[in-house]
Amino acid sequence: MRRYCIRGARIGIVLVLILGLCACSNRKQSESEKEKSIRIGVTIYRGDDAFITSLYSYMEDAVKEKEKEIGRKIVLTMADAKKNQSSQTDQVDDFIQKEYDAICVNLVDRTVASVIVNKAKEAEVPLVFFNREPVQADLDLWDKVYYVGSDAKEAGELEGQVVVEAYQKNPELFDKNGDGKIQYVLLEGDQGHQDSMIRTEYTIKTITDAGIPMERLDIITANWMRNMAYATMLEWIGRFGDEMELVVSNNDDMAIGAIEAINENREVFTKKPQVVGTDGIKEGLEMVQKSEMLGTVKNDAKGQAEAVLDIACAEALNQKVKEIRPGIKGRDERISQHMVNQDNVNEYIGE
Ligand code: BGC
Ligand code: CA
Repeated sequence: MRRYCIRGARIGIVLVLILGLCACSNRKQSESEKEKSIRIGVTIYRGDDAFITSLYSYMEDAVKEKEKEIGRKIVLTMADAKKNQSSQTDQVDDFIQKEYDAICVNLVDRTVASVIVNKAKEAEVPLVFFNREPVQADLDLWDKVYYVGSDAKEAGELEGQVVVEAYQKNPELFDKNGDGKIQYVLLEGDQGHQDSMIRTEYTIKTITDAGIPMERLDIITANWMRNMAYATMLEWIGRFGDEMELVVSNNDDMAIGAIEAINENREVFTKKPQVVGTDGIKEGLEMVQKSEMLGTVKNDAKGQAEAVLDIACAEALNQKVKEIRPGIKGRDERISQHMVNQDNVNEYIGE
């Protein structure tokens, strides 16, 4: 009997030790789980796009705040697709293979998102597209696919509004030849981009709807790029010279290219044509402040960067995205924009 008791006690002690060890290793596991960093891969369509590089640097800034908020380290890795869709698809493959927790994609070709969605779905890595919007059918392929961007129609209307307000205050600012119409040229973003055509349409519509007659001299795509816009403007100066009363640009970087060309050929103009842009990048705002540019639209790169990061982290942590981003509609979040002109530019500078 006594022997049984001793053996029983020994078994008991061993069991307690084993259980203790298990509990200990479980605790260790969950501690290391907590310590584990969240890894987010970001691929951008080209590294020399002014708006996208500013958006990415806001993402880097937002990481610091987010780490404090969630108590976990975040590793952000950026890849530049250099305008090549197949390189971008390889970059996504690489993030998947390295078991990243979420992937954020600024598509090169927004019509071929399904390839990337299917890969991510198979590997179960959540995806956040941003700025270059996939078609709805591709977004519908999986419920862990999101889009963050701005509303192109809103941007167009606000850009038009900049012109309308300035014209209503002082038509002479534009109408150099006094024919009651604004002769304008238009610099368009890249042809495949949802923002290009829609911004163009609504900028012009807003101005003409306000009863201001417009006459288009030319419209050319400069692919969102300052240097292409500069070259285009040089050509326009040769063709139209002082006839140009307004330059409408789908973004600030192209607007700045146009302004540079105008300033280098100042002697051609009795009065420089007005220039209006969109984005509110740092240099764009400075141009508005210096009265080189009539106005712009604040396309909130910071707000978009924060939304992308919030969604990616929420998915990585298995949290409900709607609780973290109440403004999201389904899996689509649009960050609102604001009109910027000389009256309010100081509110946006240094943001
Ligand atoms: C921005 C452009 C940018 C483009 C890139 C647009 O929304 O306004 O400045 O070049 O996105 O995709
Ligand atoms: Ca005129």
